[in-house]
Amino acid sequence: MQHWNSYWNNTKTLNSFAESYHQQGYSGDIALFWHDIFESFANNTAILDIATGNGGLAVLAQQYNTSYKLIATDAADINPLALFGVLDDCYNALQQIQFIGNMPTEHLAFSDGSFDLVISQFGFEYAPLTTALEQIHRVLKYNGQFIALVHSSRSFITQDCIAGITVLHQLLYENGLIEQLSLYAHICQSLSNIKEPTTHQLQQLTEHNKALLETFKQTQLRFTEENQQDWFNLIAKDLVELIMQSQSLTVAKVERIKQDLQYFLQRIKEQIASAWTEQQAEKVKELCLLNWNKVSLQPLQIQEGILCWILRLEK
Ligand SMILES: C[S@@+](CC[C@H](N)C(=O)[O-])C[C@H]1O[C@@H](n2cnc3c(N)ncnc32)[C@H](O)[C@@H]1O
Repeated sequence: MQHWNSYWNNTKTLNSFAESYHQQGYSGDIALFWHDIFESFANNTAILDIATGNGGLAVLAQQYNTSYKLIATDAADINPLALFGVLDDCYNALQQIQFIGNMPTEHLAFSDGSFDLVISQFGFEYAPLTTALEQIHRVLKYNGQFIALVHSSRSFITQDCIAGITVLHQLLYENGLIEQLSLYAHICQSLSNIKEPTTHQLQQLTEHNKALLETFKQTQLRFTEENQQDWFNLIAKDLVELIMQSQSLTVAKVERIKQDLQYFLQRIKEQIASAWTEQQAEKVKELCLLNWNKVSLQPLQIQEGILCWILRLEK
């Protein structure tokens, strides 16, 4: 869970696309979808948001109807109130939600029949299917509903993540860029301890700097597809900033960035692995029909293409 712990504790964002317009909470098609759902739930509805992350969906629910009783769980060690403050729009909502970290969906520590509604935004699919379904069924009241937006293998999000994997893999493991950056940081660090570096030492630094920027350029040229270029630009921004701050650059800083990129790669790999294909969706439907009163599973299509699956179950 370290790849998620690190992300939720160090990124001031409500959801897992920190660089997107959802950073401060869900809006657009996703918000519209959930608002339609919330419309049919009365005041004081007891809601559980599973795999909540920093609470993007729970905040949306709380802001829609402040009387909802919201609990939000995640397998990661979450604590969004440590990141957000009074000046943030979501702060009041976050304060009204009970967040519980280190609670995987397959081990929900609530009594039977605790909730009217269980919801999930790109989170339910990360847990082992059968136990997660059993747990959700158990904690729901009779006639309670489970509604989830689930990653689809055919969505444009998944396609984008595949491009992200190519770029991250290349940067981390294939062209020695990070090693070269590490060596450069080592030289910067050694020079920062010398009061008056020699001309030779300064020349060496300039040469390494040039070589590094050249490797960057060469790497950039390898990415011909637009979405790969977007990923490269997103990641390169932080790396180039590091190179430019040569006086304060340390090996530890490079190691930290490397670790973050490795976690990033792990998260998007996990996301692709959790996305349902058509066949998997059919199997899920069959499984749900055994225990649930009403079952519906269909793709959610928006202007850009398929966004995800909509799973709706009634106990
Ligand atoms: C893509 S993020 C979605 C977070 C949030 N729902 C959102 O919309 O931003 C997936 C989340 O699933 C969580 N997760 C992974 N495995 C889990 C499990 N077995 N039980 C509960 N949460 C899990 C991760 O910690 C992460 O927060």
